[in-house]
Amino acid sequence: MPLQNKISRAQRLQIGGCDADELAETYGTPLICYDEAMIRDNCRRYMASFARGGNRVAYAGKAFLCLAMCQIVAEEGLHLDVVSGGELYTALQAGFPAEKIYFHGNNKSHAELTMAVAAGVGCIVVDNVYEYQHLKEIAVQNARPVDILLRVAVGVNAETHPYIMTGHLDSKFGLSIGSQELDSLVADALKAPSLSLLGFHSHIGSQIADLNAFASAVDALCVCVRRYLSLHRWSPQELNLGGGLAVPNTAEDERVSIEELCLVLSETAQLHSDALNIAPRLTVEPGRSIVGPAGTTLYRVGAIKRTSTGRCFVNVDGGMADNPRVALYQARYTCSVADRADEPGSFIYTIAGKACESGDILVWDHPLPAVQSGDILAVHTTGAYTYSMAGNYNRLPRPAVVLAKAGQARVIIARESYSDLTRLDCSL
Ligand code: LLP
Repeated sequence: MPLQNKISRAQRLQIGGCDADELAETYGTPLICYDEAMIRDNCRRYMASFARGGNRVAYAGKAFLCLAMCQIVAEEGLHLDVVSGGELYTALQAGFPAEKIYFHGNNKSHAELTMAVAAGVGCIVVDNVYEYQHLKEIAVQNARPVDILLRVAVGVNAETHPYIMTGHLDSKFGLSIGSQELDSLVADALKAPSLSLLGFHSHIGSQIADLNAFASAVDALCVCVRRYLSLHRWSPQELNLGGGLAVPNTAEDERVSIEELCLVLSETAQLHSDALNIAPRLTVEPGRSIVGPAGTTLYRVGAIKRTSTGRCFVNVDGGMADNPRVALYQARYTCSVADRADEPGSFIYTIAGKACESGDILVWDHPLPAVQSGDILAVHTTGAYTYSMAGNYNRLPRPAVVLAKAGQARVIIARESYSDLTRLDCSL
């Protein structure tokens, strides 16, 4: 896959037709810039290759969510996966249709469940027995039965960072496949007047490039389906197959396309459906593969220093506060200097953030042309799990986010100000 942004003839980095240096000048740094056309194109690729015959694509909002993102997702016809009261609130504020929302989470509070039911959320993905019992009671107040899926830990160990594996049996997410707990929840849900069991959900993890792992998860989910078909003569209306497609961040990373993933998921599910004589609707829940490649973070270079060991640090004005992924998962990124983006990388630099942590490094040992203080440094493929995981460590304000399209940019999240930082503080 080529780098997500175009390099113009003048060798300047462009994002959504906007000059990256000019974006940095106009909106300040650090700045997260999205190429709107690329987000929409990724949504359309998923819809075109998966959402046929009633199948659904639900964007996983945890990758990046704000009012404008909800609006794009709605315009492109996708469903939405939210995982907290805050994400649900954001979606509702954006006018996103509640009935197209899946509500996830391994520890939804009573208040969150009540909010979701009252809002008329389309489907609640139940993670555990405790939540099930709570929801069953809350749902009694509702005019009609609440649609649910049961999340199943299918026992597939996909190769990815251990912190973002979720399909293994030792996971905090979901009900173990083949367990007594799952058996009794299925039996109970099929009788509960306040609930309507639509089917099952499985998500094996994130940043996964192994298509066999995705196929194995569908196989396992269908073992589950077969069991309850024979126990209760009940066949699910829906199988939600989760998200997790990897995005290549460096030249060495494996590349699996949206189309390849969708084909494997739908073909594997179709084989099982034919064998079992069932016809469930399928849902896929991508987050990273929709927004990841469409995002670029721009930083301004400050101090440049070479240590006595020979390493040259380029210090930038953001770091782990706006992108904790390197510190958390040893994520690897590529970067470039915005106004000479295709110049050969004759020097090796380590890009350091400004937080008081030695682990606050954005990119280790990366070739770049000679970097100077004041340059704009672009870190690529940062559209997923950066702003959504950003914090205020060291009281660093969170960056602004802009959406660029056909040479026009607009702010979709304003930069935090210093006064925002003390907004919730209470003086003695
Ligand atoms: N569905 C469920 C139930 C999920 O838990 C997730 C991600 C997704 C869908 C979307 O997965 P995606 O297509 O984005 O891989 N913070 C980590 C990633 C955590 C993913 C959590 N769940 C990171 O920065 O790599």
